[in-house]
Order: sequence, then C-alpha cells, then structure tokens
Amino acid sequence: MDYPIWNVAMGGGVLMAWVAITHVIVSHFAIGGGLIIVITETLAVRRSDPELRELARRSSLVLILVSTVFGAISGVGIWVVAGLISPGAIAALIHSYVWGWAIEWVFFVLEIVAALVYYTTWDTISKSAHLMVGWLYFIGAYLSLVIINGIVTFMLTPGEWLETHAFWDGFFNPTYWPSLVLRTGICILMAVAFLLWPAFKAGADRRPDVVRYLGWWFLAGVTVSYAGYRWWEAALPDTVTALFLGEAPTLAGLAATRSFTLWSLTVALAVSVLALLLAPKLARGLTAVVLMAAAFGFFGGYERLREGTRKPFLIHSHLFSNGLLVSQIDEINRTGIALHSGWVAAGDPGLENLGARIFAAQCSSCHTLDGYQSIRDALPTVADMELVAADDPPGTGEVHYRKQCSACHRDIEYQEMAGVLPTLEEIRDDPEIIRELNLGMITTTVIQLREMGVEITAFDRETTFDMRGLDRPSMPPFVGTEEEAEALAAYLASLDSAATGGER
Ligand code: HEC
Ligand code: HEC
Repeated sequence: MDYPIWNVAMGGGVLMAWVAITHVIVSHFAIGGGLIIVITETLAVRRSDPELRELARRSSLVLILVSTVFGAISGVGIWVVAGLISPGAIAALIHSYVWGWAIEWVFFVLEIVAALVYYTTWDTISKSAHLMVGWLYFIGAYLSLVIINGIVTFMLTPGEWLETHAFWDGFFNPTYWPSLVLRTGICILMAVAFLLWPAFKAGADRRPDVVRYLGWWFLAGVTVSYAGYRWWEAALPDTVTALFLGEAPTLAGLAATRSFTLWSLTVALAVSVLALLLAPKLARGLTAVVLMAAAFGFFGGYERLREGTRKPFLIHSHLFSNGLLVSQIDEINRTGIALHSGWVAAGDPGLENLGARIFAAQCSSCHTLDGYQSIRDALPTVADMELVAADDPPGTGEVHYRKQCSACHRDIEYQEMAGVLPTLEEIRDDPEIIRELNLGMITTTVIQLREMGVEITAFDRETTFDMRGLDRPSMPPFVGTEEEAEALAAYLASLDSAATGGER
C-alpha cells in the first residue's frame, strides 16, 4: 500500500483485462499449437505424407509469429500493467513464488529459442533432428503452463497454504490438477481454431482429410475441456461454488456467465462434429470463425468465472485486490492508513484532500471516478434525490430509485422511501439539508465498510472465508481510523458537483 498509484482513466482493471485476455488466448494457442504441429509432423514423417507435413510447416509460421512476437510482448505487458496498477499485490505474489517465476522464465526461454530454430530449419537439418526441436518446443511451452497453473490456481484456492504457508501446498492446491486438464483442453481448442486457416490451403483432393484430421483434435479438445471444467467446479470450496451454482446463486451475473460458458462449449461440439467430422468438404472460413467464437466464448467465460469468484481477493482469504492483507486489518484500524503509507500521510492534511488520497490507496484499484465502476454514480447526489422525489413523469421515480439507491437500500421499497423523502420543492428550497443527508449516508456506508473488516478478522484465518454473510461480499473492507473514515466520506460527498457549486 505504500506504492504510488497509477490512475488510468478507463480503470486499471479494464486495461489489465484487455492485455490479459489477448495474452492468454495467444499463450494457450502457442502451447496447443506446439503439440498439434509436432504430432502432425511426426505422423507426416511416419506415413511419408507431404500434405500433412505442409500443414505443419505452414502452421509453424503462424505459431512463431504469434507466440514469440505477440505472446512475448503481451506477457511483458501483463507484468508492466499489473505492476503499475497493483504494485503491492504483485509484490506479494512475487515474494511467495519467486522460484516459480524463475523456473517459468527458463521454460519460456527454451520455448522461444526452440520455436525460432524450428521455423528456420525445416529443410536444413535431418527430419528426425527437426522433430526433436519441435518436441523441445512443446515440452518448454507445456512446462511453462505446468508452472504458471500452480500460481494462477493458488490465487483462487490457496487451500492448505492458508495454514502452512508452504510453497508446495500453495502450488499443488485443490484446483491445480483440474485446471491443468481444463487448460490442456483449451490449448487444443485454441490451436485448432487457428490451424484451420492453414488447413484450408491444402490441395483440393486432400483438404477434407486434413480438415477431418483437425476435427478429431477439436473433439478431443472439447472432451478434455469439459471433463476439466466439471472437475474444476467439483474441486472448488462450497462457499465459492455457491456464488454461481444452485437454486439461489449469490451472484446472478456469475450464474449467467456459467451457462454461457457451457453453452459455448456445446456449440463448439455441435459445429465441430457436423462440419469438421461429418461434412469436411463443406467446411469454410465461416466454420472456422464460428468455432473460434465458440472456443473463445468458452475460454473467456471460464476465465471470467474464475476472476469473478475470486473478488475481492487477489489471493483468496489472504490478500485483497487493493494490496491490503487480511492480517493487517486490525493493526491499520488502530494506527491508521497514513502510518502505513508514506504518501497518504504526505501532502495537504485538509479533510477532503486526505480523503482523496485514501480513496486512491484503497478504492481506486476497482473504482474510477466516472468510468468503469464509477464511484460518483454509486453515491447519492442531490440531483439523484431530486429525480426520485420528483417522480416526473410518474414511474420514473421508482426507476431512478432502483438504479441510484437500491444497492444500499435493498430492504426498503420505493413506496416506503417516497413516504419519508422531502418533496421536490423542499429540496430546491433547501438543498443544504439533502447535502447533509447524503454526507450522513456516505459516512455510514464507510463506517459499515470498516465494520465489515472487523467481521472479517473474526474469520478462521486458516480456512477459505465464506464471504456470503457480508453485506458487500465483493468488496474489501475500508481500513483506517475513524478520523480517516470521516476524511474519506468527506471526499466522497464532495464528488457531487452540485454540493461544491460545480468545482469538481
Ligand atoms: C475489489 C474491488 C473493490 C474495491 C477495492 C472497492 N470496491 Fe466498492 N464495489 C466493488 C464492487 C464489485 C461493487 C458492486 C457491488 C457488489 O457487487 O458488491 C462495489 C460497490 C460500491 C458502492 C456502491 C454500494 C453498493 O453496496 O453496491 C460503494 C459506495 C463503494 N463500492 C465504495 C467503495 C469504497 C469507498 C472503497 C474504498 C474504501 C471501495 N468501494 C473499494 C468493488 C470494490
Ligand atoms: C452508498 C450507499 C447509499 C446510497 C447509494 C443511497 N443511500 Fe440512502 N442511506 C444510506 C445509509 C447507510 C443510510 C443510513 C444513514 C444513517 O444511518 O445515518 C441511508 C439513509 C437514507 C435516508 C434516511 C432514512 C432514515 O430513515 O433516516 C433516506 C431518506 C435515504 N437514505 C434516501 C436515499 C435515496 C433516495 C437514495 C438514492 C438517490 C439513496 N438514499 C442512496 C446509504 C445509501
């Protein structure tokens, strides 16, 4: 938390999502592509099949361009962006897994060197030597997945590690093996989706064969992915699956994501069987586009589910996404955030300015001012109150209430609220009263967020937390002294431009 904050207008999380999505697609392709290309080449050599060998050769250019250039740059991009938007959190991950990252890096170097050699030596070295380079590439690429999978799965299901803090307990955590199977399936899906394009270039007489050959691969990818996905769900703690499974999932959005994920895989299965296996002659660019979309849909849905169920943690039950450790809550509530951060303490001590720095430190990793997860939108303003009170034309008051107020007033119906609200004239005559009311609401909300921290410290720190009982299960608590809570509330209330005469 004592790092400077990089404020990205679009929201750090959104930027990170874009970089990460492109990177994971490409990196899975690079692994699956390696496997399929080298097996294809092996078969081609065994059967003396020049068309298959051509497929491998044509694909290897895509593989090298995409994985070494794009994969490598976007991989570095992930580190740069993650390091800038959540330095504290990334530091914690590096400290726990420094050797993991180092091993990962070694495999990555092997992968890149082998890819370059593979592409440039198609006809210059013996066939068996060339095959060996291909297998080296695949082994390097796959082992990098074997390593990184241990770290990515650890973040959602640290398991025994919460108790022992031992490297291998975290690494071989409850979702390690299911995720490895699932990601292996995804690698194959990604690779076939790309390799269909070079396959369409095969000579007309062999094209259906080559397409059907990839169809079998795709079917294998779907089967392995499905098995891995189901196993992954079964390995998650019940408190986590309850967020998106069962009769009353805690987060409706995540439940929808799950059905989208499974439907995407179903579409992928149907299209691949019908078009690639049964009627390979009819397979065209459009078929490849549909398969790509379905495979990306499945992959994206799964990643979204994994990230969504982990909120608000970076490492579940241990470290929040804003860099706050669960173990620090008590201490910071007592001594204050200013004491723990060089730059929150520095600068103008005025209440609102201090509050602005506290917001930057604790809230800005998820909330922007006006963009993604806008905090200004989430807070009550005088204008919001006027819209709800005016109810003009009739019915709009309730709509505004649902949109602007009900997140914090879940248990109060609009009619009931309308009964206690002042009229539009009263608000216009004396907006000061509303400003005070809003400041009160915001202060109470921040205090509630602080109390949530106290509730969390009562959890058994050696097991996965059940966040469902909390009022705001996707948010970290506010930590700091009561004065700091007041400063944050003052700053948040000042965001209502009407309340400051339009200064902000
Ligand atoms: C880990 C990401 C994250 C951080 C950090 C975060 N929030 Fe949130 N916040 C959310 C999400 C997600 C929601 C949407 C509500 C939900 O699903 O629980 C939200 C909603 C809100 C709301 C709307 C009220 C509500 O209950 O929906 C307010 C107000 C708010 N946050 C204030 C803050 C403040 C103040 C901080 C800093 C102390 C903060 N948030 C830090 C993720 C975060
Ligand atoms: C960020 C959360 C939040 C939002 C958004 C919010 N409120 Fe509130 N509101 C509260 C809290 C917390 C209280 C309790 C205040 C207290 O205890 O002092 C409250 C209290 C009130 C009260 C006083 C009720 C009473 O019994 O005294 C009214 C009226 C009210 N809100 C109306 C609204 C309206 C209308 C909106 C939408 C324009 C709205 N609130 C949006 C958090 C919120």
